[in-house]
Amino acid sequence: MLKEEIINVRLNDDGSKVILLDQTLLPNKTAYIELSAAEEMHEAIYSLRVRGAPAIGIFAAYALYVLARQMEVNTYEEFNEKINEYSKYLDSSRPTAVNLSAQLRRMIALVGRLSHLSISKIVEAMREEADDIYNEDVEMCRAISEHGLTLIRDGFGIMTQCNAGPIATSKYGTGLGPILLGHERGMNLSAYICETRPLLQGARLTAHELCKAGVDSTLICDNMASIVMKEGKIDAVFAGCDRVARNGDTANKVGTSGLAILAKHYGIPFYILGPSTTIDMDCASGADIEIELRKPEEIKEMFYEKPMAPADVKCYNPSFDVTDNSLITAIITENGIFKPKGNNEFIFDTNR
Ligand code: MRU
Repeated sequence: MLKEEIINVRLNDDGSKVILLDQTLLPNKTAYIELSAAEEMHEAIYSLRVRGAPAIGIFAAYALYVLARQMEVNTYEEFNEKINEYSKYLDSSRPTAVNLSAQLRRMIALVGRLSHLSISKIVEAMREEADDIYNEDVEMCRAISEHGLTLIRDGFGIMTQCNAGPIATSKYGTGLGPILLGHERGMNLSAYICETRPLLQGARLTAHELCKAGVDSTLICDNMASIVMKEGKIDAVFAGCDRVARNGDTANKVGTSGLAILAKHYGIPFYILGPSTTIDMDCASGADIEIELRKPEEIKEMFYEKPMAPADVKCYNPSFDVTDNSLITAIITENGIFKPKGNNEFIFDTNR
């Protein structure tokens, strides 16, 4: 499906390091970093060297394995205590995407189940589990892309938010998956790309991925979404997700809920695409989702040659917002296309 294979997270040959595509350097530089210390791994997630909900989860699983194999411990109890500490530490790097905590919990649960084995066998099993997490995500993203493709027709204009492409996942992407797949199958699609602030994820990452694939792509500033929709250029909005509550309320990059409100106003379908691992069945509604607040410097200084706001101005920099389930036309997972029921609530078959 993808002309050029990008592997954003993998292990080095002897499994002692995680090799990561540093997303902060895109689109100007494609460079990989090698990480083996817990502090470097935490920093890589916080600084968005790896980002995208599924990609963070995959990275964390491999990171925990790399940390496990370095441990010098004599008993299972010591091993278990230390691995739990590392897991909590990595989990503290970003709060909103459920995939991070969910995949760490999966690794920790494995360690819990294998207490009867030697430590070296447990570590070996951790590597297999991380590989499974990666491979399962590849399959989920492929299925999401196929389901999403059934929602679009030749000639569609599709608005995207932030980056939900191959680099945000294991491989195919979620929000961008149907666009890339449709393009590859000869459909004539136009993408309108949002998230030019706070982090330029649309400009730097989505534009990079879509242009490389040869998709007709137009970058707009976030405050231009309304005029572009009003001009009739948009037939559907496709966005990824970082945490979907049980009722379908969805946290995604800040600005997503604004696009959903606009889409409703203009009568444009608004779709959320993500693997079932992003659905948090323990979370009843969007009110329970913790929204990450990030540094003021990202608004005042980042990407500018010199600061572009008074040093003493107050900043509010939420990284995500929650789109109310009533604004979502459908949520697409690997298990199919879920539409809201009468009271706007979604009922998921997560197969978990
Ligand atoms: O702050 P970011 O770049 O981590 O925000 C990411 C997003 O909002 C993506 O849309 C989301 O993680 C989906 S990944 C397929």
